[in-house]
Amino acid sequence: MAVTVALLALVGTWATVNFGWFPILASDESGQIDSLYTALLWVSVPFAIGIIAFILFEVWQFRARPGHEGDGPPIHGNTRLEIVWTSIPFIIVTVVGIYGWIVLDDLEAKQPNELNVKVIGQQFAWRFEYPGGVKSNELVVPVDRPLYFTLTSDDVIHSFFIPAVRLKRDATQGAPTPLRFTPNREGSYEIVCAELCGVGHSTMRQTMRVVPTAEYDAWFKKQSGGSTAGASTGSGDKTATIDGKQVFTGQGCGACHALADAKTQGAAGPELDSIGSKGEAFVRASIVTPEKAIAQGYSAGIMPSDFKEKLSQDELDALVGYLVKAGK
Ligand code: CUA
Repeated sequence: MAVTVALLALVGTWATVNFGWFPILASDESGQIDSLYTALLWVSVPFAIGIIAFILFEVWQFRARPGHEGDGPPIHGNTRLEIVWTSIPFIIVTVVGIYGWIVLDDLEAKQPNELNVKVIGQQFAWRFEYPGGVKSNELVVPVDRPLYFTLTSDDVIHSFFIPAVRLKRDATQGAPTPLRFTPNREGSYEIVCAELCGVGHSTMRQTMRVVPTAEYDAWFKKQSGGSTAGASTGSGDKTATIDGKQVFTGQGCGACHALADAKTQGAAGPELDSIGSKGEAFVRASIVTPEKAIAQGYSAGIMPSDFKEKLSQDELDALVGYLVKAGK
């Protein structure tokens, strides 16, 4: 019995560990997390298999047979057994806890030359703020440079998760949470929201693009160049520099609304491909006071009603203008 269970446990654990269900590794730290995970599997899977096999064997071996009656004499405590089954789990949990602590400590250690990026979650998109107030709706980072993210939220709790980096952390309103890692592999990696945050939760997916340093520098220059140019033209009319389509993307409208021009396919709210025909006033009212008229087939309370506070007048004008034009 013991040999069979031990063999089963060994084969089962080996298969679990070697199954290869992890996504690609894309950061310096992620290897450590996988090692920790593998160690946890080696500790827990043999117990799981062993206990289940043992129970099944007992159930079969000591099943009630014809003529069996009653429970037999009661069994009293066994002090030695109780000491053994208390101290073994205690030792295992302590060792695993210390190992986990060491890994976590290492992951959270400050690195030289960190790039600070603010990550803001909102229903239902992520946006990013780089040093110097440079904003972007896409996460682009240089390869091999340590990153220091500060996660926050505009509304409910979201959870910032990059499977290829193996890190996930909640983004909450008013309590910024830090996240550190060093991407070490160029490519595009999925960012997902891992906290049920509303009707568009499943659409809250973006990508992190890890690029060579030179490419990142060029991208960053272009991002910041745009806003500097806008500022330098000056004093008066800013409307000219605000792109309504960018407002649409930046506010995450596409997570809930399909609009061919912006290549979005959200389905939580009405599609907007013909919204322009309803006129500018209707479009504006639908953004500013969405609760006043709910489109047929949709529920109240889904479209955020705080866009009038979140958007500046110029941004709102640009967005309305864009929708009237793009939705024709
Ligand atoms: Cu944000 Cu789920």
